[in-house]
Amino acid sequence: MASMDELKKMAGIKAANLIQDGMVVGLGTGSTAAYMVERLGERIKEENLNITAVSTSWSTTLQCRALHIPLKEMGEVSRLDMVIDGADEIDSQRNLIKGRGAAHLLEKIVASMTNNYIIIADSGKKVNVLGEKFAVPLEILPGAIGVVTEKVKVLGGNVVVRMGNPGKDGPVISDSGNLIADAKFGPISDAKTLAHKLDSISGIMGHGLFINMATKVILATPNGLEEF
Ligand code: A5P
Repeated sequence: MASMDELKKMAGIKAANLIQDGMVVGLGTGSTAAYMVERLGERIKEENLNITAVSTSWSTTLQCRALHIPLKEMGEVSRLDMVIDGADEIDSQRNLIKGRGAAHLLEKIVASMTNNYIIIADSGKKVNVLGEKFAVPLEILPGAIGVVTEKVKVLGGNVVVRMGNPGKDGPVISDSGNLIADAKFGPISDAKTLAHKLDSISGIMGHGLFINMATKVILATPNGLEEF
């Protein structure tokens, strides 16, 4: 049976092979996205493709630089031909929880620039109800941590600031200089409404609920790739 890493790689390669010459593409963050970026780098070299990429994190930017994938700054573009990214939870309607890698704010902005947003993941990410396994990642302006914690509590979420190695590293800080926290709600019965409520709290710069954004999911299962 294929290992989890082999499954992720299958999904990453399949998605990278969808990219066509001349495209401007958004590249996500995480271990599955890294396989896709690796394959894209190979294709650019082997097929002499003219691709421009927009990265969603420093991790992905450094990988692109190492592979000589041409990059544009996020602020230089407003439309992308395709965006490919991983996810932490995926429901049957392609709604997502993202942000275990703390990149969900930039990932959501980049995802909003396309109508071709492809999610790649192993089948362990599929859930019946969002929130079943993971908390909802938040990116919070540091000075707003107190008020955001109180307001999210009223919505039923317990906000915990994400920490690095206990006693060694401090809190996890996003690429934009904000605090990363996780809000545990448990299974979320109405993710769309919760997403709107989180959108309306001043001080939350971004949250990990991606509702009605993904247009295709490529899921790697032990029996092969499934798309929905
Ligand atoms: C990054 O912040 C996340 O949104 C990632 O896309 C997500 O954590 C998926 O990562 P893996 O592919 O490593 O599971």
